[in-house]
Amino acid sequence: LDWKLHLFPELDSTNEMAKKLIREGQAAEGTVIISRQQSRGKGRRGRSWQSPLGGLWFSIILRPELALSEVVLLSLVFAVAISQALDSFQFFDPQMIKWPNDVYINGKKVAGILLELSGELEQADYLVVGIGINVNMDRASLGRGLAKTATSLWEESGTYYQMGEVLLRVLQSIEEYYYEFLKNGFEDIRKEYKSRCFHLGKMIRLDTPRGSVEGLNLNIDEQGNLIIDSGDSIECLNTGDVALLAG
Ligand code: BTN
Repeated sequence: LDWKLHLFPELDSTNEMAKKLIREGQAAEGTVIISRQQSRGKGRRGRSWQSPLGGLWFSIILRPELALSEVVLLSLVFAVAISQALDSFQFFDPQMIKWPNDVYINGKKVAGILLELSGELEQADYLVVGIGINVNMDRASLGRGLAKTATSLWEESGTYYQMGEVLLRVLQSIEEYYYEFLKNGFEDIRKEYKSRCFHLGKMIRLDTPRGSVEGLNLNIDEQGNLIIDSGDSIECLNTGDVALLAG
C-alpha cells in the first residue's frame, strides 16, 4: 500500500474526515487520517468512543474489490493484524481478540475497530477502517466509567510507547494481512483468529439488539459468524457484544 499520512491536532472523528475526503474525490487507497484527539469519536453499534490525547486514533481508506460478505470479514482480519502488531511489543498474552474485532489485554479493552462503507451508493467501493488504540493514557484519562473495562498499553506494561512506532507497526501488520486475505482468502487467517480469540470454547453471553444468547462458544465460522451452543439449539450470530461468563 502506498501510505499517505495526514495528521490533525483535533477532529470530530477521523472516520468522518475520511468519508469527507471520499465525497470530495480525494481519497486514494492507503490514505491515513490521524488525529491526536477526537471530539466525537465513534464506536461500534452507535456508541461514542473516548478519544483523549495519548491514544492513537486513525482511519485508513481502502478500495478493496470485494463482495460485501468478504468486506465484513476484513474487520476480523484487522483484529488479527492489530493483535499481531501489539504482540510484537512482547508484553502481552497473544489471546487478545474478543469477537468480532475488539482487542483486549488482561481482560480489558485496549483497541477497537469501526469499519464503514462510504455512504454514496455509486462509491460504495470505498472502505473506511477506523482504529482506536489506547496507548499512553493513564486510568484517570480513560474517561468516566471506563476504568473497569478499558485499559491502555501504558497501564498494562508500565512502558511509554512512541506513537509513531505503534502506528507504523500496526500499518505494516494491516498491510500484511490485507494482502494475505486478498490473495489467499480467510481460511488461514481464521485459524489464527481462533487461536487468538480468548472466549472460544468458553461459556459466553452474546447481547444483541434482539436479546441475549447464552451458551458454549463453539466456533467462528467461515463467514465470521459466532457459533453458540445454547443447549437447546446451535445459534449462528453476526452481531452483538460478547461477555465471558464466570466458571
Ligand atoms: C469500537 O470498538 O466500538 C470501535 C472503536 C473505533 C474507534 C476509532 S478511533 C479512530 C476512528 N474514528 C472514530 O470516530 N472511530 C474510530
